[in-house]
Amino acid sequence: MTKIRETSAQTLLRVANQTGTPCYVYNETTILRQSRLVLEAFKHHPVKWLYAIKANDNPHILKLIQRAGIGFDTVSFEEVLLCQHFTDDPRQIFYTENSMSDAEMDAAIRLGVTLNIGSLKRLERFCDHPEAHECCVRINPAIGDGHHARVNTGDSESKFGIRIGQIEEAVAVAQKSGKRIIGLHAHIGSGIKEPENLIAAMKVLLELSREFPDLQFINFGGGMPTPYRSSEKPFDMARFAELAIKLFDTDLKNRPDGFHYLFEPGRWFVAEAGFLLTKVQTIKDQLETRYLGTDTGMHHLMRPIIYDAWHDVVNLSKFGEAADQLYTISGNICESGDILAFDRLLPEAEMDDILAFCDAGAYGMTMASQYNRRALPAEVLLKSDGSYQVIRPAQTAEETVAEFLAKCGFETETHHQKK
Ligand code: LLP
Repeated sequence: MTKIRETSAQTLLRVANQTGTPCYVYNETTILRQSRLVLEAFKHHPVKWLYAIKANDNPHILKLIQRAGIGFDTVSFEEVLLCQHFTDDPRQIFYTENSMSDAEMDAAIRLGVTLNIGSLKRLERFCDHPEAHECCVRINPAIGDGHHARVNTGDSESKFGIRIGQIEEAVAVAQKSGKRIIGLHAHIGSGIKEPENLIAAMKVLLELSREFPDLQFINFGGGMPTPYRSSEKPFDMARFAELAIKLFDTDLKNRPDGFHYLFEPGRWFVAEAGFLLTKVQTIKDQLETRYLGTDTGMHHLMRPIIYDAWHDVVNLSKFGEAADQLYTISGNICESGDILAFDRLLPEAEMDDILAFCDAGAYGMTMASQYNRRALPAEVLLKSDGSYQVIRPAQTAEETVAEFLAKCGFETETHHQKK
């Protein structure tokens, strides 16, 4: 229930009734609060914050976060192109490549974005490029963390980053070709469980940075966790800032003017702001299990299936009533694994009740698919002034199928219509 406090159950119900379900709803106030928290915590230090747009790349959300004073962190050429719509200065777009193609590298160099290179082989290709001048390199700090093994990116066995043992070679490759490595980067994982691991990785980067003569910045990645369960403690940003600032105060003594640090979380800014609203379409007892079947599923919210992730579920239509019934909440995808939440205590539900999956603002819609050829849901932004705006309408079933057929080179008329 605490999750709904900031965004009232009444407001969410109103949106569900007017926009229809399923739909993602994001609360602007929460996003702005999260932005202010980080800017405030580091305001006396040369620290820039970037938003990892993979968490939620709706253009209205990008605009909102950018206006709050946050830059963009991207991980694909497509994300770079998207961010180009929001800034005239391509260097403000930080692009962390991962198995980038030559064509993508060429295009990124021409655009002038800040390219972050994660392997020695790619660095060699970059240094061979006649128009390339400077880049950042991603280090594998051999310290990983994350809410699930699949999102731990800093372990020495992970596919990301240049190993510490290859750093000398990386510096040599750049020097030989007259290119400059101006930035150092690491991202240890997503949903960091132990903030000390982030601090430890930061120390590793600060130490290694001495081997790079042209350095202008260090980017320590993202990963700040969200408390999905009420038993989880929120990430203490103020405490983290205290520890980080201690490191910065020492480090800055030997840095040139303009030297700065960066962080690039995604989840931090948007997770708690988002809800996935869905309507109960069936209720059934299968021996021991009582299912609430919904009009959404794993195609709209993949996190429970991929990471066993927990999202609090609230029955908005029965808000405040005693939660004394055990339900398993299932999706409308034709797979028995399409279960969004197991064994949840909720008030007695009825057909057409509206449920909210909480903390769904990050890695919800961006990971959604059209599996079972299903339509994508709407996205709605609740404004701080109490109004709301549909920032991406739902696809209708007809649009979804017509777009698909047309893309594959088929006529969109049905046999029936042709007759
Ligand atoms: N920087 C890089 C290089 C990343 O790979 C990521 C996320 C981030 C920043 C932002 O991490 P965040 O602050 O959001 O934790 N789909 C998963 C999360 C995968 C994140 C992968 N990398 C989930 O739903 O939990």
